[in-house]
Amino acid sequence: MNSNPTMRAALQTTVGDPDVLQVVDVPRPEPRPNEILVRVHAASLNPTDWKHRANGGFLGEPPFVLGWDLSGVVEAVGVGVARFRPGDEVIGMLSYPFGHGSHAEYVAAPARDFARKPASLDHVQAAALPLVSLTAWQALVENADVQPGQRVLVHAAAGGVGHVAVQIAKALGAYVIGTASGPKHDFLRELGVDEAIDYREVDFSEEVRDVDVVLDTIGRDTSTRSLRTLRSGGIVVSILPIGRPDFYEEADALGVRAVRMLVDSSRADLASITRLVDDGRLRPTIAETFPLEQIADAHRLGETGRTTGKIVVTMD
Ligand SMILES: NC(=O)c1ccc[n+]([C@@H]2O[C@H](COP(=O)([O-])OP(=O)(O)OC[C@H]3O[C@@H](n4cnc5c(N)ncnc54)[C@H](OP(=O)(O)O)[C@@H]3O)[C@@H](O)[C@H]2O)c1
Repeated sequence: MNSNPTMRAALQTTVGDPDVLQVVDVPRPEPRPNEILVRVHAASLNPTDWKHRANGGFLGEPPFVLGWDLSGVVEAVGVGVARFRPGDEVIGMLSYPFGHGSHAEYVAAPARDFARKPASLDHVQAAALPLVSLTAWQALVENADVQPGQRVLVHAAAGGVGHVAVQIAKALGAYVIGTASGPKHDFLRELGVDEAIDYREVDFSEEVRDVDVVLDTIGRDTSTRSLRTLRSGGIVVSILPIGRPDFYEEADALGVRAVRMLVDSSRADLASITRLVDDGRLRPTIAETFPLEQIADAHRLGETGRTTGKIVVTMD
């Protein structure tokens, strides 16, 4: 047995444009107590990947390997892991933000960050799910407590978070309004959206009223304008910086609630999401797949901000 195994990983040693990503050999990790070593088959990209690549974000100075989402097969388990065995197919979101590193052939991470891969999805589809569906679930269920019949406005409903949020909101029994540019409205209807708003043609804050819950995937001015769409007691859950210090005072004055959240790893939430998939209520859409060696192209595509669904890199 090789005592110094290596793996391919998308390493960057400096921040910058997509060309800073170099797919190179690095040491393969070992699972520590309570961790599993997973052979990654597919890993999706999220906007946080290109933001961190360009400016370091929460991680500061490189070197680092980005990537939080993955689907793969357990290769080995660390001391104390009883839930998984080698050969199990798993999905996971590495602890956000400091557990990054799924854009590689292997990851070693706490077993609690993983759940069984839904049997009806292949690795590419499964890798698309964790970060965006945890975000949507934690926004809609944990923060907003969406109830059947409530009106939910999902911004960027064709995007990674949005297209999953629409399906989760429908599964919760909500009436869903989604924003996207006109050519994406057929896609929105396929997802189950009840009303599609072309945000380029109309001001959503003039068109939409009496909303119980807004999932704000845009931030800044969209957060502020979203307050006006809410009925009294409604809530806007924002997943981006709002950029206005008086935002929360304005929400108070309007009699609505406003929160900003960051996604968090949760096996229980992943299990709820997996059940939705197994029940046929949630399915990710894949915009495009790239081999790991072409991850810079995957970043370039993502950075357009125009993709429908998710971008995935494959390691096989
Ligand atoms: N806080 C957290 O924990 C957390 C978690 C996940 C994501 N995020 C953040 O949430 C944002 C969305 O993430 P994502 O993965 O969904 O991104 P994404 O997949 O890259 O979003 C792309 C989509 O955004 C749509 N879009 C762009 N501008 C829009 C606008 N003004 N109104 C409506 N739709 C618009 C585009 O549709 P058109 O082509 O029709 O414009 C496209 O389909 C990112 O900034 C990400 O960093 C935060």
